[in-house]
Amino acid sequence: MMVLPDSFRHADVCAPIGYDFWRFHIFDCLAVKLLLLSDMIFLFSLPSSLWIDEEQFIENLRCSPNIAVQRKPLPSKASRKKDIQICSLSHKSMATANQARHHAIIFSLLLGVSFLPNLAMALSSPLSTKSIAIIGGGNVGSTIAISILQAPQAMLPVKVLIGARNVDGTRAKLQENGKGQLTVSPVDDAIRECDVLILTVPGGHDDDDIAAIVASLGGDEAVRDKIIIDATNPLSSFADGLQVRWGSTKSGGEVLQDCVPSARVYKAFNTLGVELMVRPRSERNVDMLYCGGAGGDDGARAVVHAVIAAVGFTPRYVGPIRYARNLEAMAELWIHAAIPSLPGAQLGRDWSFGMNGNLATDTTKEDS
Ligand SMILES: NC(=O)c1ccc[n+]([C@@H]2O[C@H](COP(=O)([O-])OP(=O)(O)OC[C@H]3O[C@@H](n4cnc5c(N)ncnc54)[C@H](OP(=O)(O)O)[C@@H]3O)[C@@H](O)[C@H]2O)c1
Repeated sequence: MMVLPDSFRHADVCAPIGYDFWRFHIFDCLAVKLLLLSDMIFLFSLPSSLWIDEEQFIENLRCSPNIAVQRKPLPSKASRKKDIQICSLSHKSMATANQARHHAIIFSLLLGVSFLPNLAMALSSPLSTKSIAIIGGGNVGSTIAISILQAPQAMLPVKVLIGARNVDGTRAKLQENGKGQLTVSPVDDAIRECDVLILTVPGGHDDDDIAAIVASLGGDEAVRDKIIIDATNPLSSFADGLQVRWGSTKSGGEVLQDCVPSARVYKAFNTLGVELMVRPRSERNVDMLYCGGAGGDDGARAVVHAVIAAVGFTPRYVGPIRYARNLEAMAELWIHAAIPSLPGAQLGRDWSFGMNGNLATDTTKEDS
């Protein structure tokens, strides 16, 4: 067996794996990148649209007498992305080691090529220079945060912060739910540091409720020039049937934009259940309808588009913020269909609104 550096001696897993792995399984796992460094083979599982279940993958490796696997947490900077794991593989016999090393070099080259599109995507993404603050670290906020960190664009350090009014409590809850890797800050700090803000707090039903949410963000001045993606639904209480603002001429999204004229408000993520926001999803593509942007686009829509894509959806722009009325009503529809004690049909939570046809994907055309 090869001698492992000291740093690997105390690794948490050490299991024999199969040489067959090199020959038969690697092409099934394009998300896995290999790097051969002297006599060590490092196996990185990077965030990718071709995400694999890493535990299952490692499990699959545990069948050969020839190679030993050790896993350890990533050191330094990379450890910020807790979804990346590292393994060191070593060969128990020199004969197979040489053979496997030869194959590994070839695989590394091939997989390096598969790595390039992700790198190109990351470099060209508008997110590569943006910081994102997610206000509210509940179900939706934390799920979106993790999905963005797992996206291929996250090969570059996309900064994602959770803004919480109760920092310690939110941290503790995230820890409990296995999401302790997320960074939690006070709301004002998170907003100050971000270019894009995703609002995932409980929605305000009345104008006053929405104004109170804006006040909790620090008011219009605090969000000047920021892009706000409003994921909330302005629902009435359960006793009132979880209805959107049928009594008002404006949607929650429009009222929010009125309250923060210095920011650019978009409505997105509100029409689907949180379970669809998780990466990896099934292979099916899921559309995310979104709207917004006041007075021209100036690149903000491209950023919103990229955020939605980073969470794993196909973004579909449907028009200016006026269409938040429609998106909020659609959300009410699925909520009513999903919640058994409400009067809608019992369709369950797993449904989404899709679009067929050859839709324009131009994110730069002017709002009408
Ligand atoms: N659940 C879904 O499937 C789904 C899908 C689409 C859209 N939505 C919408 O997304 C929003 C969030 O839903 P959710 O299921 O994630 O709710 P949730 O689990 O209750 O999370 C809401 C979070 O917001 C925090 N919060 C409340 N007021 C805040 C404030 N002023 N500043 C900072 N943080 C605040 C809460 O923390 P503390 O109370 O501890 O401060 C909590 O962590 C809602 O508007 C909902 O309509 C939900």
